[in-house]
Amino acid sequence: MSTKKYNVGIIGYGWAATAHIDAINASSQAQVTAIYSSRPLDSATLSAKHGGKIKAYDTVEALLADPDIHVVDITSYPSQHCAQAVAAAKAKKHIILEKPMANSMPEVIQIFEAAEKNGVKGCVCFECRFSSQMEATKAVIDQGLIGEIHYGEVDYYHGIGPWYGQYRWNIGKKDGGSALLTAGCHALDALLMCMPGEVDSVTSFSTKSKSEYFTPYEYDTSAVTILKFKNGAVGKCAAIVDCLQPYYFHTHLVGSHGSVLDNKFHSAKLKTNKAQWSGLSMKMLDSGDVSDHPYQAQFQAFFDALDKGQDMPLTSFRDALRTFKVIFAADQSAANGGQPVKVA
Ligand SMILES: NC(=O)c1ccc[n+]([C@@H]2O[C@H](COP(=O)([O-])OP(=O)(O)OC[C@H]3O[C@@H](n4cnc5c(N)ncnc54)[C@H](O)[C@@H]3O)[C@@H](O)[C@H]2O)c1
Repeated sequence: MSTKKYNVGIIGYGWAATAHIDAINASSQAQVTAIYSSRPLDSATLSAKHGGKIKAYDTVEALLADPDIHVVDITSYPSQHCAQAVAAAKAKKHIILEKPMANSMPEVIQIFEAAEKNGVKGCVCFECRFSSQMEATKAVIDQGLIGEIHYGEVDYYHGIGPWYGQYRWNIGKKDGGSALLTAGCHALDALLMCMPGEVDSVTSFSTKSKSEYFTPYEYDTSAVTILKFKNGAVGKCAAIVDCLQPYYFHTHLVGSHGSVLDNKFHSAKLKTNKAQWSGLSMKMLDSGDVSDHPYQAQFQAFFDALDKGQDMPLTSFRDALRTFKVIFAADQSAANGGQPVKVA
């Protein structure tokens, strides 16, 4: 048995899980000790591959009944997230939950309420908030270098075609959901981190590439959403999963003292030359590969918060609930041809 404080059980042993296991095992307090998968798995093989002692389970119920497991990490198909997360909360396990939390707002609320009722903490994998790009961007904002933001855009450009492992389930509405739910949610979530005011309403339009790579998709794979904030600010988020170009996580934030554009900025406060951008040294988000994602920093923050009995910073269930309210309102607007939708 692990000598670390938190034993973690993985639910769903796919691509994301492999990156999660390394990140959890690299944390100071946690170790993966159990894995459930719909495929038969061998405990000895898993232990040899990932280190430590890992027990394979062939039902979620048996894994959740194990009193030695303190945290579960749900990396299954999106349509399975709600039932598994609610069952985990009822079993009093803290929860790491891959995005999307679920593919409908009632399910997201169910997960949030089950965690609150059972006194367990949640971490949603909006790990981009812990990336070098977003941490540096947020620090520039928090230092007041660009003043008060009145316009911001964060966009996600990443073609999820047949060359991508998720494609087989991502093309379906049931698990893929929408351009925002399947991947654009990272950009919308990052925009909401940079612009913390309450969103009043959203207007969204969606479309689809003519490329045959994307023909099998059951939903529109490009969407653009305009956000109207209650404080008068305006935001924009493009979620483009049918492009043929390098991965691009675009950030442009405009404030009363300056702007941030990706890894560049201008700040009147610093009296830099407005005719030229100043450089911001950072690692830009430039890949959809889970092995490049900052899960380790995110999970470390989650376990540190568990130690203190607190909600984790930045990506708690409550933080993610705010993002998903905007996403589902945007998808409703797009389905209605761009009618503005109030964010409840
Ligand atoms: N945060 C991110 O940036 C990020 C990146 C990748 C995936 N994800 C999310 O992680 C979750 C899982 O995605 P993934 O890419 O790991 O998907 P995946 O297809 O690799 O695995 C998903 C599930 O499918 C099961 N599975 C995989 N192959 C199987 C097979 N041949 N037979 C039976 N079951 C099989 C796995 O056990 C797992 O439960 C999704 O919610 C996805 O949106 C998030």
